[in-house]
Amino acid sequence: MLHRELVFVTGKGGVGKTTVALALAIAAARDGRRAIVCETSGQDRAAGLFGRSGAPAGDEIALADRLWATSIDPLRALEEWAGRQIGSQRLVGVLSRSNAFAAFVGAAPGARELLTITKAWELGRHDRWNRRARGYDLVVVDGPASGHGLGMLRTPRTFAEIARVGPIASQARRVTELLEDQSRSAVIAVAHAAEMPVSETLDLEQRLHGDFGRHLDAIVVNGLLPRRFSAADIEDLASADGAVPGAVAAAVRSQHGQAAAQQGQLRRLRRHATADVVTLPFVPHASLLLDDVRSLATALAGRV
Ligand SMILES: Nc1ncnc2c1ncn2[C@@H]1O[C@H](COP(=O)(O)OP(=O)(O)O)[C@@H](O)[C@H]1O
Ligand SMILES: [Mg+2]
Repeated sequence: MLHRELVFVTGKGGVGKTTVALALAIAAARDGRRAIVCETSGQDRAAGLFGRSGAPAGDEIALADRLWATSIDPLRALEEWAGRQIGSQRLVGVLSRSNAFAAFVGAAPGARELLTITKAWELGRHDRWNRRARGYDLVVVDGPASGHGLGMLRTPRTFAEIARVGPIASQARRVTELLEDQSRSAVIAVAHAAEMPVSETLDLEQRLHGDFGRHLDAIVVNGLLPRRFSAADIEDLASADGAVPGAVAAAVRSQHGQAAAQQGQLRRLRRHATADVVTLPFVPHASLLLDDVRSLATALAGRV
């Protein structure tokens, strides 16, 4: 999947979308591709892990060899797009200062989503809006949570249909072509092996197919606990009858119970999902460090 032009990562909030998006970009960069990971919610966690947070939204920050990050700013994207369309920086400046662009971004339903996904498309062009900028081989979009993610993917088609003619329609059509061509773009869902996220992922897969006519390309189940104990171990524990301190026995039972519940949900996901399911281990650190994300990138490489 990493040889495609754009990978869109979605899933329920907090399951590890940002981590997986960055790990995918790291894996692609290691594989020789110029990759950029785009955050879409005003955060810059990816850059932060490399100690490069705090840059203005929309800047493309070099993180490592062949690896960049950006936080897409819809208003800045609109100004860049208009600059290329209008061809007069002076006029674009006048429009910006008059708040005309901000009014459009704030008022038109779906404008933020359209601008965000269009900017992601643009990052992968050889012919950038800013003629001096170079395009990326792979754009990884750290998308919004499932429902909104689907909405964002659908927006270009909606705008193309509403506008029909003119620069917005033709622009939206080019983005639609990318998003509807499964050989050029991929949609990856991230989930936890728990009841709600698994149900939501199965639902996402169905809706993506129903509304959008495309398949999920992969499901990444993140944060899987190791299976440290067998059922026999747990029986031995019960029959050890006081030889093992109570707190230790409780911790073992709890870990075993959680891991077993996860395995049950993982089986349910694999049974019902069409997409390939790949797993990433739970990393037992208070918060993930760059090296942890690099290890997750190694675990993902070649499996998606
Ligand atoms: N495999 C993992 N093991 C342990 N912690 C993880 C793992 N993946 C993500 N995390 C942690 O979980 C939290 C949420 O991850 P994040 O990628 O920000 O999720 P999202 O973007 O879906 O909200 C972060 O603190 C992150 O460091
Ligand atoms: Mg995130």
